[in-house]
Amino acid sequence: MPLKLKISVEEELEAFKSIHIQTKSSELLDEKPLEKNDNGTAPATVIEERISILIPNLLLTDLQILPDEPLGLHPTPESRVGKYLMRSLEIKGILGTGAYGIVYSAMDHSHQTWYALKALSKKRINGAPLDRRQREFQSREIQLHYAASAHPNIVSLLRIIDDPECTYIVLQYCPDGDLFSNITEMGRFVVNDYLIRATFLQLLSAVQHCHKLGIYHRDLKPENILVDGTQVFLADFALSTTDSESDDHGCGSTFYMSPECFKSSEMYRCAPNDVWSLGVILVNLTCGRNPWKQASPLDANYLAYLEDRSILKSTLPLSNELNDILVTIFEPDAEERITTEELITAVTTYPTFSKPLVTL
Ligand SMILES: Nc1ncnc2c1ncn2[C@@H]1O[C@H](COP(=O)(O)OP(=O)(O)OP(=O)(O)O)[C@@H](O)[C@H]1O
Ligand SMILES: [Mg+2]
Repeated sequence: MPLKLKISVEEELEAFKSIHIQTKSSELLDEKPLEKNDNGTAPATVIEERISILIPNLLLTDLQILPDEPLGLHPTPESRVGKYLMRSLEIKGILGTGAYGIVYSAMDHSHQTWYALKALSKKRINGAPLDRRQREFQSREIQLHYAASAHPNIVSLLRIIDDPECTYIVLQYCPDGDLFSNITEMGRFVVNDYLIRATFLQLLSAVQHCHKLGIYHRDLKPENILVDGTQVFLADFALSTTDSESDDHGCGSTFYMSPECFKSSEMYRCAPNDVWSLGVILVNLTCGRNPWKQASPLDANYLAYLEDRSILKSTLPLSNELNDILVTIFEPDAEERITTEELITAVTTYPTFSKPLVTL
C-alpha cells in the first residue's frame, strides 16, 4: 500500500477546526537560512527514534531506529542523505533548500515509491533549540497544509515523522520540479495558451479551496508550485495564515506582493493579496518575466503601470485580452480587485493570453 492519503471534506474540516495557532510570520522572517556546517557530519551511532503523531488520522506504523547527530552540532543538509526513516524510507537527495526548511527526495523501498521530505529543523544554526514561537510557526505550516491537502492541486501531506533533530513532513513527490524551473529553464509555456490556461485554472482552484477553508497562503510564487506532467500542485504553507486581515507587512516575496502589503500603516486583506500574487504568476507563465520588482510607487515600472493601465501590452508579449484580465487583478484598491471565482470565469472565457505572432 502506498503512503498516499486523501481525506474526506468532513475529516478535513474537523482537522481544520482544531487549528488555534495565531502567530505572526514577520517574526519568523528574523530566522536566517540554514548554513552549511562542514563539521556536522553524522556519526553512525544508532538511537531509538521518537515518533509522535502531530496530526490526527495520519498513520505512523513502524517504530524505527535512526542515526542521530551529536548534540550541539547542526547537521549539514547533505549529511542526512543515505539515512533511513520508518525502516524503509531512504533519504536520497536534496530537492530544494529554502529559508527555513530543506526538502529531500526519498524512496520507500517497501513500495518502490518516491516521496519528498521537508525537514524542519528543531535547532537554530548555533545548535540552540527553537523557541516556542518558532515551533508554533512550524506547527502552523503543518496544520494548515494538512487542512488544505485533500484538494487535487495541493501537494498531499501524507505523514509526519518526528525525529530528535527535526520534524519531517512526508509529501507527495512531484518529479518535474517547481513551476519556476518549468518557466525559466524549460520554457514550457512559451506561446502555449492551452497549457497556460490549464495550469492557471488548476492553481486558481487550489487557492479558491484554501480561501473557502479560511486559509490564506501569502507566499504564492512559481517556486512554491510543483509540477508533475501537466498537473500543478500548490506547496509551502510556511507563511499561510487563518487571519483574513493581517498587519504582517512584507510577508512573502516582493515581486508577488500586493501594493497594500507595502503600506505598513494599514491592515491588509489576505484573500485579495493572494489574488494579486496570482496575477504576477499569470504574467510569469505567459511572458517568462515579472511585470515589476515591487508594486510600490518607488518602482518605475509599477509607477508607469499606475499611469497607463495598458502599458504591459507594450512592454510584454501579452494579448489585449490578457491585459483586460490583468487590469482587474492589478487593481490597486483591494476592495475592487477581482475574486478567485470571477477570475476562474474570466480565464475560462478569454481565448488568448500570449501576443499573437506577427506573420508577414
Ligand atoms: N513535493 C515536492 N516534490 C518535488 N520537489 C519539491 C517538493 N516540495 C518541495 N520541492 C522543491 O523544494 C523547494 C523548496 O520547497 P518549499 O518551498 O516547500 O520549502 P522552502 O521554500 O524551503 O520553505 P520555507 O518557505 O518554509 O523556507 C521547492 O521550490 C521545490 O523545488
Ligand atoms: Mg518555498
